[in-house]
Amino acid sequence: MSSPIEPSDRAASIEYAIRDVVVPAIELEKQGHEIIRLNIGDPLAYQGLQTPEHMISAFKKALDSQDNGYGPSYGIPTLRREIASTEKGKGWNCSEDDVYVTHGVTEALQIIFAAFLELGDTVLAPGPHYPPYMAYPQMYGAKTVEYRLDPNDGWKIDFKDIRSKMDDSVKLLVLINPNNPTGNVPTSSEIDSFIEIARDYPKCTIISDEIYDGLDMSGNFVSLASRSDEVPVITLNGVSKVYFAPGWRLGYMAWHDPKNVLQGVRDGVERLLRSRLCASTPAQHGFLAGLVGDKGWLSEYREVIRDRLEYSLSRIESIDGIECQAPSGAFYLFVRITDPNLSIDDKKFVLDLLHEKHVLLVHGSGFSPEMGKGHFRMVCLPEIELLSEAFDRIEDFINGK
Ligand SMILES: Cc1ncc(COP(=O)(O)O)c(C=O)c1O
Repeated sequence: MSSPIEPSDRAASIEYAIRDVVVPAIELEKQGHEIIRLNIGDPLAYQGLQTPEHMISAFKKALDSQDNGYGPSYGIPTLRREIASTEKGKGWNCSEDDVYVTHGVTEALQIIFAAFLELGDTVLAPGPHYPPYMAYPQMYGAKTVEYRLDPNDGWKIDFKDIRSKMDDSVKLLVLINPNNPTGNVPTSSEIDSFIEIARDYPKCTIISDEIYDGLDMSGNFVSLASRSDEVPVITLNGVSKVYFAPGWRLGYMAWHDPKNVLQGVRDGVERLLRSRLCASTPAQHGFLAGLVGDKGWLSEYREVIRDRLEYSLSRIESIDGIECQAPSGAFYLFVRITDPNLSIDDKKFVLDLLHEKHVLLVHGSGFSPEMGKGHFRMVCLPEIELLSEAFDRIEDFINGK
């Protein structure tokens, strides 16, 4: 009898809470139940937030003109130039050579981790955070440690906690701004304090994940790279959130290296980029159209999202057993379960709600076992009618416990 072939420990230990909870949801759908999905940050899953038409036309035009070949490994020059100009507009001296186009921020992260991390290294990331910051570093023998975001004060950065966790093993210090899942947007003076800490550790590079930058509702957003004159910063961004095209799988990293300390690791990144060939060529044309085109549509989209966020917050306020710190950006709410009987196991809360009321959320511990427990994350992208139905069900569920 042949024995089963086991997966590597590396693969077996990967978790991605946002999609892991979809497995039981699909089972229920197969049985004929309709599930309200509030788990995934994909605007296209809901009404009224479609990819802008001019971006789609540019993508289609590239397809029609047979621009379907392999492109340059670092991205097509016109797009790199336009990204550089966009980043320059945010206040730092980005050149087209500083920009590398990837299959989304997610691929950029894989490449950065592969190029920076050795056995025993640390990635210091916000707690709670977007799951790949925890899932990938361990593939390189590194570990992710979380610094605290304050759950009682708008999930602001706890600088004392960062300081206490910094040492020379920290190769990458991460800021997600606006934050997923909490929606926190740091002020420029908070950004300066963040950079100030990294300045004391010459082996540390900052990753600033700014994929939700255009969805800042507070007016506080500043590019982290624009505030750093010494510490190296890699800015991440792409089409998934602010350009409403997550399925295109397109993003970029832009390197700001004021003291020229990253040449070696940059060579490593370029080797990795060449070895995986290139990002999607026609999609790059679509992104380019988004960058150069008028952005008036984005203010309208932002208002739609703001209405949905505000509606959701008002519903949460009226439900006994849950509460939420108002976000300053992005399109999530990270909701605290205040009833101790329900908060003790947030994954059970989410799975019971799914089975009993057919609403799909993500358990907070999936964003941080320590700092996210007792919470759930919900996406506020659906139209208000659907949100209203979802909250009716959540309220019924909690009242029934
Ligand atoms: C903070 C953050 N970074 C990156 C991503 C994914 O980016 P991409 O679709 O470009 O891989 C997400 C998706 O939810 C996110 O929340």
